Amino acid sequence: MKQLSVYLVFMLLLCGIASAQVAPSGDALLGSKKYEQYEKPDVCKSCHPDFYQQWRQSMMSQSYIHYWDEIEYFDLAVPHAEKVPGLKGPVDGCNGCHTPLAFMAGDVTPPRPSANSRANEGVSCEVCHTISSWSGDVPHNFSYISTPGRKKFGAKPGLVSPHHDTEQNALYEQTEFCGNCHNEKNPFGIWVKSTQIEWKEGPYAAQGVPCQQCHMPKAKGKNATMAKEDMVAQHLFHGAHDGGKVAGTIELRIHPSELEVPYDGTVVLSAQLFNAKTGHKFPSGSVEDRIVWLHVTATDAAGKIYHLPVDKKGFAGEEYTIASDVLAYQDMGVPKGIANFAGVQRDGVPVGDRIFRMPYLDPEGRMTIMQWNTKSLGVDYRIGPRETKTETYTWKLPDDVAAGPVTITAQLNYQKLVKPVADFLGVPADESEIVPVNIAKTTFEIYE
Ligand code: HEC
Ligand code: HEC
Ligand code: HEC
Ligand code: HEC
Ligand code: HEC
Repeated sequence: MKQLSVYLVFMLLLCGIASAQVAPSGDALLGSKKYEQYEKPDVCKSCHPDFYQQWRQSMMSQSYIHYWDEIEYFDLAVPHAEKVPGLKGPVDGCNGCHTPLAFMAGDVTPPRPSANSRANEGVSCEVCHTISSWSGDVPHNFSYISTPGRKKFGAKPGLVSPHHDTEQNALYEQTEFCGNCHNEKNPFGIWVKSTQIEWKEGPYAAQGVPCQQCHMPKAKGKNATMAKEDMVAQHLFHGAHDGGKVAGTIELRIHPSELEVPYDGTVVLSAQLFNAKTGHKFPSGSVEDRIVWLHVTATDAAGKIYHLPVDKKGFAGEEYTIASDVLAYQDMGVPKGIANFAGVQRDGVPVGDRIFRMPYLDPEGRMTIMQWNTKSLGVDYRIGPRETKTETYTWKLPDDVAAGPVTITAQLNYQKLVKPVADFLGVPADESEIVPVNIAKTTFEIYE
C-alpha cells in the first residue's frame, strides 16, 4: 500500500514535469525557438538537389516573398492591426504559416523580403522536416510541434544519411500534417481556410487518398544523390499557381434542348460541370481571393455573338454567384486610410455569368478579401470533390438572329485574385490573369 502511494506520488510528479514542459504549438510557438536551430535550404540542396529545385519552384519557397503576399501583409494586414489593436496577435500569426522560422524566432513583424533576411526562407525543408507532431482536435493555425535538431523526420523507416539522423513518422503520410497550415480559424472564429476539413468530408478521405498523392506524387528516382533508386515523393506542391494543375479540374459539357428550333422559338441549354480532379472544393484555400466563372455565348450563322446570362435557381444568397455591376471590398479603406471608401467592382467579369465561389463578409455584411476581417461566410457555391453542378441558359431567340447553324461555346475561367482588387492594390498582372479551366461547344439549327 505504502509502495503504491509512493509510486502514485512519483507518477504525479512525472505528469507535472511533463505538462510543465508541454511542447509549444500554435500561438505559443511565438519566440519559442531561434533561427540558428534550423538549417538553411542550401544545406539540404547539396545532397537533395532535385527536391530543392522542385521546392524552389513551388509556392512553399515563395510563401513570404511572393509579391501578393507582401502586398496583402504589409499594405493591408499590418496597417489594419495598427488601427485596430486587437488584430496584432492574429496578424503576427500570418507568419506562423507563411514564415514559420521568423514566427518561432519571435522576429515579428519580420523584415520586408527586400532585406533578404531568414524570414525569406518561407516554408522551408527544415520547417516541414522538424515537425514531430501536432496538438488539438482539428489541425489548424500552425498547430504543429517543431523539434529541430540532427533528426529529420520523414515517411520512410531506416534511411541512413551522413549529414543527419532520420526517423519514420506516420504523420508525414497523413493529411493532418498539411492541415496544420491549410485550415485556418480567424479572430471571429470563422474557418477562413478549410482545405483539409473539406478533404475529410469528401470522397477522397473515405478512399484513403491523402493530399500527398496529388501534390507530392511518387515517381521512380533518387531522393538524395547518394541514395538507391526508389519510389520517391516529388516535392511539387502544385496548386492554384500552376495553370496545368488547374486546367481540366472541372469537366464541362453543354447541350441544347432541341437540335432544330424555329426562328421565334426558345432553346434551353444545359451545362454539366463535374469536379474530376480536386480532393477538396474548387476553389479551395484562399477562397476570399478566388473567382471561377462560366461564360456562355452563342454565335449565329452570320457570325454575330450573343452573351447568354445564366438562369436563376432561386437559392438564398444566389446574388453573390451571378456576376453583377456592384461595388464591394469597402473595408480595404480602413488599412488604406481612405475615408468612406466606396469600394471597387465586386466581380470584374461579364454581368450575368455564373460564379462558383463562397463570399467572405465583413462585420458590416459587405464582401471582403481580408480574411482576418471576415465575420461570416455567405452561400457556398463552390464545386465539391466529384460533385456535378448543372446550370441552364434559357434563350428566347432574338429577332435579328440569322437562320442556320448556331454554335454555343461554354468556357470556364479561373482567376486567383478578383481583377478589380488586384488593380486597386497594384498586384502584378499574373495574379489576376484569366486561367482557362475548360471549354465545351455544341450546336443547333434555327429554321424559318
Ligand atoms: C550530406 C548529404 C545530405 C545532406 C546535406 C542532407 N541530407 Fe537528407 N538524406 C541524405 C541521405 C543519403 C538520405 C537517405 C536517402 C535514402 O537512403 O533513401 C537522406 C534522407 C532524408 C530524409 C528522409 C527521411 C525519411 O525517414 O524518410 C529527409 C526528410 C531528409 N533527408 C531531409 C534533409 C533536410 C531537411 C536536409 C537539410 C537540412 C538534409 N536532408 C540534408 C543525405 C543528406
Ligand atoms: C508550415 C505550414 C505548411 C504546411 C505544413 C504545408 N503547407 Fe502548403 N502552403 C503553405 C503556405 C503558407 C502556402 C502559400 C504560399 C503562398 O502562396 O503564399 C502553401 C501553398 C501550398 C500549395 C500551393 C497552392 C497554390 O496556390 O498554388 C499547395 C498545393 C500546398 N501548399 C499543399 C500542401 C500539402 C499537400 C501539404 C502537406 C503535405 C502542405 N501544403 C503542408 C503552408 C504549409
Ligand atoms: C510542406 C512540407 C515539406 C517541405 C517544404 C519539404 N518537404 Fe520533404 N517531405 C514532406 C513530406 C510530407 C514527405 C513524405 C511524403 C510521402 O511519403 O507521401 C517528404 C519526404 C521527403 C523525403 C523522402 C522522399 C521519399 O519518398 O523517399 C526527402 C529526402 C525530403 N522530403 C527532403 C526535403 C528537402 C530537401 C526539402 C527542401 C528542399 C523538403 N523535403 C521540403 C514534406 C515537406
Ligand atoms: C485527388 C487529388 C487531390 C487531393 C487528394 C488534394 N488535392 Fe489539392 N488540388 C488538386 C488539384 C487538381 C488542384 C488545382 C485546382 C485548384 O486550384 O483547386 C488543387 C489545388 C490545391 C490548392 C490551391 C487551391 C486554390 O484554389 O487556391 C491547395 C492549397 C491544395 N490543393 C492543398 C491540398 C491539401 C492540403 C490537400 C489535403 C487535405 C489536398 N490539396 C488534396 C488535387 C488534389
Ligand atoms: C493557418 C495558416 C495560415 C495563416 C495563419 C495565414 N495564412 Fe495566408 N495562406 C496560407 C495557405 C496554406 C495559403 C495557400 C492557399 C491557397 O493557395 O489557396 C495562403 C495564401 C495566402 C495568400 C494568397 C497567396 C496567393 O498568391 O494566392 C495571401 C496573400 C496570404 N495567404 C496572406 C496572409 C495574411 C496577410 C495572413 C494573416 C492575416 C495569412 N495569410 C494568414 C496559410 C495561412
